[in-house]
Amino acid sequence: MLQLEGTKCSFLFCLGICVLICSAIYLKAKISSAPAAQQIFVSCRPFPQYCTALLTRGEETEWQRRDCLGEGYFLSSQLNCSRMVKELHFITSPLSREEEEYPLAFIITIHKELEMFARLFRAIYAPQNVYCIHVDDKSPLQYKTAVQRLAACFPNVFLSSVSEKVTYAGFSRLKADINCMRDLVKSPVRWKRVINLCGQDFPIKSNLELVRYMQSSKWRDRNMTPGIKQPSSMRYRTQTQHREIRGSHVAPRGKGHKKGPPPHKVQIYFGTAYYSLTRPFVDFVLQSQVARDLLEWSKDTYSPDEHYWVTLNHIKGYYIRDICIYGLEDLQWIIDKNSMFANKFETKTSPGALDCLEQWHRQKVLQQAEVPIQPEWQLAIETNKVPNASRGPS
Ligand SMILES: *[C@@H]1O[C@H](CO)[C@@H](O)[C@H](O)[C@H]1NC(C)=O
Ligand SMILES: *[C@@H]1O[C@H](CO)[C@@H](O)[C@H](O)[C@H]1NC(C)=O
Repeated sequence: MLQLEGTKCSFLFCLGICVLICSAIYLKAKISSAPAAQQIFVSCRPFPQYCTALLTRGEETEWQRRDCLGEGYFLSSQLNCSRMVKELHFITSPLSREEEEYPLAFIITIHKELEMFARLFRAIYAPQNVYCIHVDDKSPLQYKTAVQRLAACFPNVFLSSVSEKVTYAGFSRLKADINCMRDLVKSPVRWKRVINLCGQDFPIKSNLELVRYMQSSKWRDRNMTPGIKQPSSMRYRTQTQHREIRGSHVAPRGKGHKKGPPPHKVQIYFGTAYYSLTRPFVDFVLQSQVARDLLEWSKDTYSPDEHYWVTLNHIKGYYIRDICIYGLEDLQWIIDKNSMFANKFETKTSPGALDCLEQWHRQKVLQQAEVPIQPEWQLAIETNKVPNASRGPS
């Protein structure tokens, strides 16, 4: 994904985490002078110190995690759904009328890191939405089974009916999304927009905030899939034929294998593979001859997901209103997007940061709710710090 991806990642990481880190530095002094608290849930990794400071309103209380979600949970052969939903604190009713009336569809493509996926999934899960999970066909059977088992616990979650062996920069990556779209349009859920994510993303916005953002005058009826006219440095991607070595890499076919011009004289754009698309646009993608021909033509291009959505979104007369996100202005979009999802989380490298972001997100979600909060929805509980009785009477 080259520069765009690189830029995106750095921005994402900053926006998602910098806030936490800065607060940490700011509040560190306060925390270190506070009395040590008794560990109640000793089995769970505690929140990092900077996080406790961020989440806690006063110095007298602190947050304790209520579960130590790990991948082992899903690997056991028996999964009792009703117990799992409670134990992992899934939100089981729509939290507002607004969200209920604007269901979202999600496409999540994954191939590893079961724990990370489970934590992403429970953060974005809402019963009115619909979720299509594309598990890489080359993932281990145990992994697929675990995801399948989790999905089977929810009526609005399913695995894509066709699963690809996904190759980086290959057509298979684009096909995975399209497979899910074909399934999603058949869902009884009347979703309004579809958002694609990968297993290492994590939301910054709550579902309510996403719904409001997508309905804002800036984005209502418009797709978020920023791009620019294909730069000359990227032209090789669509001017020469490529071959996908399934599950491995994409290679040019060599001299003499030039591609013809794109069908219907469309102008090729280049942008990110991440999007939020309106439902009518998805129907257009799946049904129109232009979209189908472009898909067929893209089969032997390099990284087609980085031109397909953007190019279709710029075809005059279909969905373009006055979208023009060009060049440097992309950055603004990427920044906006940043605050929707943070990217490239790995539980192994930054477990504390994810714990913290997860609790921060859930706290926000629950604070915004317009329905009574069920106690099981809390990921962590706020406890009083032990008073200084242990220091003995003065
Ligand atoms: C699942 O767990 C609940 C307790 O949370 C229990 O009442 C129920 O019988 C269990 N179901 C099965 C099939 O074991
Ligand atoms: C705890 O100790 C501090 C001084 O170390 C004191 O000011 C405070 O009143 C004590 N709090 C309680 C509840 O005893």
